[in-house]
Amino acid sequence: MKSQSMSRRDFLRGAGMGALFLLGGRFDLSGRGGSPFQVESAQGEANGHALRAQMEPFVPDAEISLTAKEKYVQILPGARTRVWSYEGQLLSGSGVTVQNLPDTYLGPIVRAQSGKKVRILFHNQLAEESVIHPHGLRVPEDCDGQPMQAIGPGQTKVYEFQIIDRAGPYWFHPHPMGRTAEQVVMGLAGLFNVWDSEEETAVPGASTGANDVPVIIQDRNFDSGNQFLYNPNMLWGYLGNRILVNGKPNAALSLEPRGYRLRLLNGSNARTYKLGWSNNMPLKVIGTDGGLLPAAVSKSYVMLMPGERVDVWADFASLAGKQVALRSLSFNPGDMGMGGMGGGGMGGGSMGSSLANGAAFNILTVNVGRKATSNPVLGPLPALSVRYNAGNVPNYATPRPFTLEMQQRMTWTINGRVYEMTAVADDEMVYRDETMAWEWINNSSIPHPMHIHNVQFQVVQRTPPAATSSYSTISQGLVDSGWKDTVLVWPGERVKIAMTFAPYAGMYMYHCHILEHEDMTMMRNYMIMDPMMPGM
Ligand code: C2O
Ligand code: CU
Ligand code: CU
Repeated sequence: MKSQSMSRRDFLRGAGMGALFLLGGRFDLSGRGGSPFQVESAQGEANGHALRAQMEPFVPDAEISLTAKEKYVQILPGARTRVWSYEGQLLSGSGVTVQNLPDTYLGPIVRAQSGKKVRILFHNQLAEESVIHPHGLRVPEDCDGQPMQAIGPGQTKVYEFQIIDRAGPYWFHPHPMGRTAEQVVMGLAGLFNVWDSEEETAVPGASTGANDVPVIIQDRNFDSGNQFLYNPNMLWGYLGNRILVNGKPNAALSLEPRGYRLRLLNGSNARTYKLGWSNNMPLKVIGTDGGLLPAAVSKSYVMLMPGERVDVWADFASLAGKQVALRSLSFNPGDMGMGGMGGGGMGGGSMGSSLANGAAFNILTVNVGRKATSNPVLGPLPALSVRYNAGNVPNYATPRPFTLEMQQRMTWTINGRVYEMTAVADDEMVYRDETMAWEWINNSSIPHPMHIHNVQFQVVQRTPPAATSSYSTISQGLVDSGWKDTVLVWPGERVKIAMTFAPYAGMYMYHCHILEHEDMTMMRNYMIMDPMMPGM
């Protein structure tokens, strides 16, 4: 399908601003009565706030700066590694905290209360262009951090938005044209944990992070001088032979014999993890990309693809004085087979990598102390009670299809198309406030984590692949009962998702979150049109 002409696109891009004058009482976003999603108490209120706020001058509750710059950190013994890192600072205000992590390239952890208005000054002190994308948050188009919004060396981009989303483990990373993958490998990524009173009630300590254990999982290759080696595999993307947690190799933590909330992010470019405990205790999943689940889910293992997050409750009370490890368990990464490019010793990793995609390895060792000293001591699973009903999603009969394929010369496509910075095709147009289903159809031989900006969706239905030899090694590890912004789509699988696009109109993106696929072409724009704009 052909792209829209520039003039139409520019016109449509005005839709976000168009929302402003439409607010003169004609369009009430809080009354989204017909939506089959029962999200109104959690999101409807916030939507109303957000749009009312747009009419007034922006007065931030807090102002922070994030500066991307080069530095050197000790990762391996010996020479320090040249990295790129976001340095965070709280400039003024309240309701938002910025925690820089010591001795690592990763971070900072921004923690913000839902409803707060934040101004973020992004200073680019790199020698190349970049931009920050707030992954998982709904923000106005000009704050989405798309490739066309990238700024050059020495420049500053100002983001102003209200946090209208519920509590959840959002994060941020670069998104410049063709350079996302390598900038992330160099170190640029941080957490943006939003909390609210609902979450604080369900999981004590949510507002301060007191019981949080951030676990950002990445993989890297190093050269003999301890420098990051960026050598992606053509098919699979970048697979490193060392696993880093929060930027550290051989990660180990000393924790008390009590309950903790492990906030896991797969911040890797391309590697998929099959998370499990070394002692075979189940993983108690309490949240996904878009926040807490309606009820905890107990899993023997959990799959986590690049971009996905999962909150796991871990109660170490019965392990006092012992050690337990969070591992990635072995799986077959696709029906090209373990002996093909994906699995075995050959080519599954980057050149020189000894860690194939699907291999088993330790991620994080937990040394459990003998006594819990914290007060109160959190024990087993918190009772979750959240304000949406995930069971209420209708099973749409005719979802919009999005076919994932590899064309000739290793070109990844979505519905046969590649990324074009300003193009939006007819089947990439949606209306604001519209609830609809899309279906990812993976006609390729490897899994893809499919991500949509500016929305949280729910998985409605999975149609498993015909060939199940690899699927059977991962299918028990899918957590589909919560809000998601990135979802695993296995080779041969179809995944139907449903979502409501609101409250912002404008152009956003969707793409595979294997960053090499995204940079190569497996990314597209979609347009949220304002239903009140003339001529649409
Ligand atoms: Cu985390 Cu467009 O991505
Ligand atoms: Cu995103
Ligand atoms: Cu992909």
